Amino acid sequence: MSLQTLTRSQLALHNGQDKPTIYVAFQQRIYDVTNSRLWRDGKHYQHWAGQDLTAELSDAPHTEKVFERFEQIGTLV
Ligand code: HEM
Repeated sequence: MSLQTLTRSQLALHNGQDKPTIYVAFQQRIYDVTNSRLWRDGKHYQHWAGQDLTAELSDAPHTEKVFERFEQIGTLV
């Protein structure tokens, strides 16, 4: 599947509230976490989907390896 290009405001709609698909950006890559029960309603501990969470990974008890389970669906511009 070809990658979509999303702006920050387009990404913001995929926050678990406004659109059915839930997306998270990390290092300009956008991942679809809709099927993760850990991101239900767009919320993951203190973090919200629909945005670039690159800087916030340092708060997590895990590394970026968690993204390996998800498909990159797009690029944040
Ligand atoms: C307070 C901060 C955070 C806590 C306590 C937390 C905790 C967890 C835990 C316990 C898991 C499941 C175990 C694992 O896969 O290692 C997980 C998975 C995950 N986390 Fe976090 N996390 C935090 C922040 C973040 C941030 C900022 C991001 C994004 C940059 C993120 C992205 C993910 C993803 C994509 C998964 C995989 C979900 C799945 O496999 O269904 N987390 N997190």
